Amino acid sequence: MYLYQDRIIPGEELHISAEDRGYYFGDGIYEVIRVYGGRCFQKAAHLQRLARSAVETRIALPCPIGEIGERLERLLAVEQIADGTIYVQITRGAAPRAHAFPSGAAPILHAYCTVTPRPLEAILHGIRALTVPDIRWLRCDIKTLNLLPNVLAKQQALDRGADDCIFHRDGIVTECVSSNLMIVREGEIWTHPADCFILGGVTRSAVLELAEAIGLPLQERIFSLEELRSADEVFLTSTIMEVTPIVTIDGRPVGNGVPGPRTRLLQAAFEQLFV
Ligand code: PDD
Repeated sequence: MYLYQDRIIPGEELHISAEDRGYYFGDGIYEVIRVYGGRCFQKAAHLQRLARSAVETRIALPCPIGEIGERLERLLAVEQIADGTIYVQITRGAAPRAHAFPSGAAPILHAYCTVTPRPLEAILHGIRALTVPDIRWLRCDIKTLNLLPNVLAKQQALDRGADDCIFHRDGIVTECVSSNLMIVREGEIWTHPADCFILGGVTRSAVLELAEAIGLPLQERIFSLEELRSADEVFLTSTIMEVTPIVTIDGRPVGNGVPGPRTRLLQAAFEQLFV
């Protein structure tokens, strides 16, 4: 089933216009929300970010943000998914192709749920990453549909026998293809500040709060590829991947090549948020 505007309809009844500006221009915004035990995880933070993306892109929300939350809950109640994700997207609407905002086009919302198992293998053993130049635009803080650089980087990782890519701008590490990046150096956690060069992740915020609660020193600061490569521990954070260790970078082991103790502490603390 899909949520289309305010109706829940079967897939065969979902018709998206070929003139949807999401197709022509990637002119839309989205969120991916985790569902654990049938309940949305961090829903308020996701809705808040969706509302912010709407403001920054000047896309009108089809209804107040609280009502979008209620519609997603209705979809979830119909779908009865225990562990999964909700994808929700809002485009500027459908209109003949022209760059300027169309007059009179209404925003189009659609959403669906999928069963998404937790990535337990990756969480346990870690993943392999490559470093690649960050060729994205300068508003990575907005969660828009324009993901071609991310798509190309992900495929490059898979083609080269890795799992994910770590982006850097002129040697300054930003984030990963669809997650934020944190490193541990001399007992401190470092992660790129939440500015226009990264998406301010909901998981990132949760993990930073946990680090503080546990008493792990942390700094939101920029760091270089060299500092990444000589870090004791490296891990990524996202709605889908939770807290996942990175155990090799460009084929070389991180630390001693296995997930480190601070990563394990944060993984355990994070799990407590939803088990
Ligand atoms: N991606 N950075 C980027 C570029 C992302 O696309 C995402 C999320 C994150 C992590 O944000 P959060 O912790 O709020 O999920 C960071 C989603 C999951 C996706 O595009 O599928």
